[in-house]
Amino acid sequence: MTEKNGEDRPVLTNRQGHPVHDNQNQRTVGSRGPATLENYQFLEKISHFDRERVPERVVHARGAAAFGYFEAYGTVGGTPAARYTRAKLFQTKGKRTDVALRFSTVAGGRDSSELARDPRGFAVKFYTEDGNWDLVGNNLGVFFIRDAIKFPDLIHSQKPDPVTFERQPANRVFDFISQTPESMLMITLLFSPRGIPADYRHQQGFGVNTYKWVNAAGETRLVKYHWSPKLGVRSLTAEQAAELQAEDLGHHTKDLYDAIERGDHPEWELRVQLMDDHDHPELDFDPLDDTKVWPENDFPLLPVGRLVLDRTPRNFFAESEQLAFGTGVLVDGLDFSDDKMLVGRTFSYSDTQRHRVGPNYLQIPVNQAKNAEVRTNQRDGAMTYHVDEAGTNPHVNYEPSITGGLREADHPAPDEQGPEIVGRLTRARIERTNDYRQAGERFLLSEPWEQDDLVKNLVGALGQCDRAIRERMVWHLFMAEDEYGRRVGEGLGITADDVRDLPPLPGQTLTQDELDRAADLG
Ligand code: HEM
Repeated sequence: MTEKNGEDRPVLTNRQGHPVHDNQNQRTVGSRGPATLENYQFLEKISHFDRERVPERVVHARGAAAFGYFEAYGTVGGTPAARYTRAKLFQTKGKRTDVALRFSTVAGGRDSSELARDPRGFAVKFYTEDGNWDLVGNNLGVFFIRDAIKFPDLIHSQKPDPVTFERQPANRVFDFISQTPESMLMITLLFSPRGIPADYRHQQGFGVNTYKWVNAAGETRLVKYHWSPKLGVRSLTAEQAAELQAEDLGHHTKDLYDAIERGDHPEWELRVQLMDDHDHPELDFDPLDDTKVWPENDFPLLPVGRLVLDRTPRNFFAESEQLAFGTGVLVDGLDFSDDKMLVGRTFSYSDTQRHRVGPNYLQIPVNQAKNAEVRTNQRDGAMTYHVDEAGTNPHVNYEPSITGGLREADHPAPDEQGPEIVGRLTRARIERTNDYRQAGERFLLSEPWEQDDLVKNLVGALGQCDRAIRERMVWHLFMAEDEYGRRVGEGLGITADDVRDLPPLPGQTLTQDELDRAADLG
């Protein structure tokens, strides 16, 4: 390329709008002399640089965002959407809503490898006319735990040793998992071929937690969300991932960026499963338990729309680092369930974002409800980027008032008819824990090559763990399915006889079936 003298290019300024005449030399006393403290241009430049980083996300630090639209079918599995939800974005065939999607890994830091065996985050922000809706999920459909109070422990077990900062993930992860039987389905998925997606474009997404839909009559239904990639699902073996990782830690981010830039716009179909809104005593799991899948034969997948990504971020920091999602961000027609993870998550996200990005994180362009009108009485705080729209009288930043200012939306609020709940305040596990059956079924339903890969991956990871951790894990796998326990046990030199006498974990309540299984292990 020929060097240009640049006379036709815009002039560099500082943030005060002053033109920069010399960007190569500080102000000094003579050409070799000391620098001076009134060196405003230099001090502004260097002190801004000193503050370029914000804390990385405490989880899901490594990720990539892209933008596009969601297009509704107007129906839910062929039935008009209005029958199930009044959420406006689903109502009309062809209606488009702007979206931001951020993919991520979970455990590693901001510059860590994207080829790790780790769940992938799948977080979608819909900029609807009723305000933003965030659906913050993952690519495996279930989770390790079912109560939010356990989340900091789960994550500490996946992070480096707090004394040496050494990454010895297997022993720490399985120390925790071996004491957490509800993780068995998640572990079975994570160590299967699906545990390392080929890239972000060839992976599924799921809302994971159970939410509710509300229709115009106020009737509620439980709902689970599924995203299916049009390109199909592709994964990497541990060996393929290691090979790619040796070349490039940011393989997924680059793949997504390059694909969108060359016009290969990835697409996912959104499908939902619906259930009547009650506790379903006929099921052997609790519909509010995020460690379980809902069987697709009983609760079919109903298509509702498609999502297309057609724009890359203009700036990584502004549109990916500062992007902030949360499970509390719902619009009319969508609601929470009492899923004990969901309520905990809902506090955690905005709390961390006030710390990570700042109390005015919702004024940052990528987080603004850009297709709705925002009028609040929230004022001030660090990094107030603008004053929110205040209505007719900007002096009145409170409500109610007879002199002006903002008023409440029309009363009454849209009706809801959720179930009436009666109970004592308590700290208790849900009753239908059923921690093993779906993990065992998943093993049996896998193709032989998938079983081989799962067993190999688990043996590889558990082989790095202390004997007591290995034994307890083999006990759990036997509880899920004899062949599963036997094959992983064989790889580790542990038999059913070695683990048969292990008692259930403290606090673990086994059903009669599970007790029989434990007594007759192998
Ligand atoms: C990110 C908390 C469970 C998916 C985060 C962040 C926190 C957090 C603090 C960082 C957010 C930020 O800095 O902006 C929790 C807690 C959980 C939980 C307390 C359990 C109680 C889950 C589950 C899923 C999930 C079950 C998947 C279904 C994600 C995703 C992100 C994330 C995708 C990244 C969002 C982004 O791209 O910015 N979580 N999480 N989390 N979490 Fe969770």
